[in-house]
Amino acid sequence: MSRLEKALNRAKQARQEGKIGPTPDHQEAETVSQAGKDKIINPVYTHTKVCQTDPSQLEKRGVITTDFHPAIVEEYNLLRAKLEAIMVKNGFKSMLIASPGPEEGKTLTAVNLAISLSRETSRTVLLVDADMRNPAINEYLGISKGPGLFEHLTKGIPLKDLLINPGLPRLTVLPAGTPSDYPADLLASPAMKRLVADIKDRYPERTIIFDSPPLTAFSDGLYLARYADAVLMVVRSGVTKENDLLHALENLSDRPLLGTVLNRVKKNQCAAYSYGKY
Ligand SMILES: Nc1ncnc2c1ncn2[C@@H]1O[C@H](COP(=O)(O)OP(=O)(O)O)[C@@H](O)[C@H]1O
Ligand SMILES: [Mg+2]
Repeated sequence: MSRLEKALNRAKQARQEGKIGPTPDHQEAETVSQAGKDKIINPVYTHTKVCQTDPSQLEKRGVITTDFHPAIVEEYNLLRAKLEAIMVKNGFKSMLIASPGPEEGKTLTAVNLAISLSRETSRTVLLVDADMRNPAINEYLGISKGPGLFEHLTKGIPLKDLLINPGLPRLTVLPAGTPSDYPADLLASPAMKRLVADIKDRYPERTIIFDSPPLTAFSDGLYLARYADAVLMVVRSGVTKENDLLHALENLSDRPLLGTVLNRVKKNQCAAYSYGKY
């Protein structure tokens, strides 16, 4: 067992023993996860800008398209299924994608998870680029730069004028807008609180995913964690340091942890690629 796995196990044990914050109830989730699945949602975007993205460009960036490597799509679907079960069971509608350091896979996980979740016809997904220091969601999805969260919080530009549909059904993006070196004050502002209340209340079938900057370097993630119902921690295999992970988990100890994604595991370490006859 690697040092990282040991650290995760220790953190899990500490949570179970009540030493570190709440862990959502993972039990009996399948029975309730069927609720509300009969309804098919197919929104027609009239006001929201629609941006047609090129699937081959998305693929190059690792974004899952319908033709993406099935084994990888399946990994995200597996993640979706696990998270969905926990979220339904606990009544969670929003999550923060966090990680201790940079380049660990937060944004790619946020984008691919959002796409995977939006493929289910019973819900819509709002992907919020709340990494206002280093916004990247537009680039992953091939959306041109423009106003976003920053402009909403600083200039009061209405949300409806900022949302973008990246050409995929049921998925809407709130871009970060102009990058800012001092976003913590904005993220803690009454305008941000109002925005979160608004996006959470407006559509009951909506799942909200917040992307965020690294936890160890900035306070932004801690503010964002207060707005999200739960946190999904991304850990980069062979790179994320044990102490940084433990520190990040401690900082978020009062927030429910959905789980941990071990990202960028090398192919030869990953059994999923050789699963059965597929
Ligand atoms: N599972 C993965 N497999 C291959 N490359 C990945 C994976 N996850 C992330 N990357 C790549 O690693 C880099 C950092 O990922 P990103 O999601 O932008 O990190 P973060 O948001 O944590 O800074 C990007 O170039 C991205 O394409
Ligand atoms: Mg990022």
